[in-house]
Amino acid sequence: MLEISALHAGYGKVAVLDAIDLEVNEGEFVAILGPNGAGKSTLLKTIAGVHSPERGTISLFGRRIGRLGPAERIRMGLGTIPEARQLFSDMSVRENLVLGAYARIGIRIPDALAADLDEVFALFPRLREREKQIAGSLSGGEAQMLAIARALMGRPRLLLCDEPSLGLAPMLVREMLGALEKLREQGITILMADQNALAVLQMADRGYVLDTGRIVAQGESKSLLNDKRLRAAYLGAGLSQ
Ligand SMILES: Nc1ncnc2c1ncn2[C@@H]1O[C@H](COP(=O)(O)OP(=O)(O)OP(=O)(O)O)[C@@H](O)[C@H]1O
Ligand SMILES: [Mg+2]
Repeated sequence: MLEISALHAGYGKVAVLDAIDLEVNEGEFVAILGPNGAGKSTLLKTIAGVHSPERGTISLFGRRIGRLGPAERIRMGLGTIPEARQLFSDMSVRENLVLGAYARIGIRIPDALAADLDEVFALFPRLREREKQIAGSLSGGEAQMLAIARALMGRPRLLLCDEPSLGLAPMLVREMLGALEKLREQGITILMADQNALAVLQMADRGYVLDTGRIVAQGESKSLLNDKRLRAAYLGAGLSQ
């Protein structure tokens, strides 16, 4: 579904991603782990098309997408939840959700969106209660739910999530991970970067550990969790979860 080969990316002269090879198969939940500054967000931004790689190839659904812009990738079935959530803070919850469907359907009579809205409200009932509230006044957890719900309005086949649990209280982290688990059960493939390594590996099928732009370990979640050296070096974050 997603295949990345020998990907190099950076910012100006600063090299960040160094020969990344990664693949995500249909229906999988794959985690990208690693310390601050490892390059997790850069990798997701490069897949989303908001950052250009220096070299290497990215194929999505069997098609090379290197030349496509972010909007075209979204139309192909890519959903993104960026690191800073990037909600439209002076618009309502409902307006944010409607915009999430825009790339997929363009302008359409609002009634036609009712079923899609019902679906995301069923997943996040709290958003229904706050439908008319301005997004900028949501709590951190609610804003994160809205970011996920907005991505779902685009009906993605592959969802990229960058640190969806950042800044959330442990209870909300569980709620958010639970919502992602439901999405996976619905057949959505997920690639997620997160600091809560242990919590995420308990859900993910596989993981990649990134350090200073290189993949230093990869494999089934179970084998990563059982690797003492990895646990000591990289998977400490989230131990209390
Ligand atoms: N726009 C930018 N310009 C220059 N350097 C950048 C830019 N964005 C990121 N970097 C640098 O690239 C490196 C990788 O950053 P990135 O955000 O991909 O890491 P990360 O793994 O997502 O970290 P975190 O866990 O803190 O979110 C860091 O050293 C960062 O300072
Ligand atoms: Mg990041």
